[in-house]
Amino acid sequence: MSILVTGGAGYIGSHMVLSLLEHEYDVVVLDSLVNSSAEALRRVESITGKSVTFIEGDIRNRALLDQLFTEHYISDVLHFAGLKAVGQSVEQPLRYFENNVGGTLTLCQAMDAAGVRTLVFSSSATVYGEVANMPIHEGLPTGSPTNPYGRSKLMVEEVLKDLAKGDSRWSIALLRYFNPVGAHESGLIGEDPNDIPNNLVPFISQVAIGRRDVLSVYGNDYPTPDGTGVRDYIHVSDLVDGHLCAMQVIARKHGIGIWNLGTGQGYSVLNMVQAFEKASGRDVPYRIAPRRNGDVAECWADPSKAEHELGWKANRNLDAMMQDTWRWQKQNPNGYNLE
Ligand code: NAD
Ligand code: UD1
Repeated sequence: MSILVTGGAGYIGSHMVLSLLEHEYDVVVLDSLVNSSAEALRRVESITGKSVTFIEGDIRNRALLDQLFTEHYISDVLHFAGLKAVGQSVEQPLRYFENNVGGTLTLCQAMDAAGVRTLVFSSSATVYGEVANMPIHEGLPTGSPTNPYGRSKLMVEEVLKDLAKGDSRWSIALLRYFNPVGAHESGLIGEDPNDIPNNLVPFISQVAIGRRDVLSVYGNDYPTPDGTGVRDYIHVSDLVDGHLCAMQVIARKHGIGIWNLGTGQGYSVLNMVQAFEKASGRDVPYRIAPRRNGDVAECWADPSKAEHELGWKANRNLDAMMQDTWRWQKQNPNGYNLE
């Protein structure tokens, strides 16, 4: 039996594949490489000393999926494949809905036809929209995400809820990630943004290494302790552990479960800058800029449902997140681009 990891060459997916191999699972990766490099999987193989079956292809390609499920005996699908750039999703909504929603529909249809009905989906805290009181727990209704990327996640959640309701043979986990950061402790795999990073930690880390001059801090007039935005940053290796726990739980029961994957701890933008300076020993110059459209003041998880039901808890602290990010950045100043 193998686990199919869609998007397994990407940032979170490659860490997941590494962990699955370490836990003696056989892994098949399906990735179009639209936002990743096959080099990530070569490194995963060299860290673990194990091999991965890699299929370069698209989740929207039904014929390819049918062939994959015929040729490989798949027990579970961990579905990471998707486009994730918020700004790009505003400019290219059709592409985002087609890829993220349409792609998931095709994947589920192929799974159903193959009799594979165990699925873990990468959702996001963005589905809660703007929430008045922190922390955010799963009992809250979903809200209105501020962009097409966020709406694509919400739409897929709705599809998967209906699927589980309509056919009791499915076992589905919706995992709502807060802010994944960090890298594997080897420093060999990590996040490798294609363009100018949108997210805070990759940007800070490129400033520290000298690829960018200065960080723009988007707003210092929020109702937070230092006026800058507060988020729940979670180490990617903790996030991956949460998937392993979720897989084990949904293997034992049908239906759908929803779990926040966060630490329960919020840090401000300035907290993050200081923590990165400490980990790297480098200065991270910043300037205060206007607020970014669509940003909320604060967002952090109540992770207790995952602790009770999945037996999972994040245990890497902010120092570890920053040290691991810095090790990856320092060892790979140009990411997977080897030139
Ligand atoms: P990523 O871009 O590094 O990885 C996604 C992978 O999917 C890439 O390797 C890409 O090539 C592949 N892909 C995209 N569309 C595809 C398609 N149609 N067919 C096959 N492969 C395709 O992103 P990530 O940070 O690893 O995120 C993984 C998942 O987690 C995504 O679904 C993302 O939306 C979700 N998520 C990420 C974050 C975050 O901050 N990184 C937060 C919440 C949710
Ligand atoms: C963003 C997306 C969210 C997505 C998540 C993971 C928006 C509005 N939200 O979340 O949908 O799921 O990424 O991909 O884009 N910041 C700066 N300067 C920077 C970058 C960020 O000050 O150069 C601040 C932001 O204002 C925010 C915090 O840092 O307060 C974290 O930002 P970011 O890493 O982009 O994550 P989110 O906004 O939480």
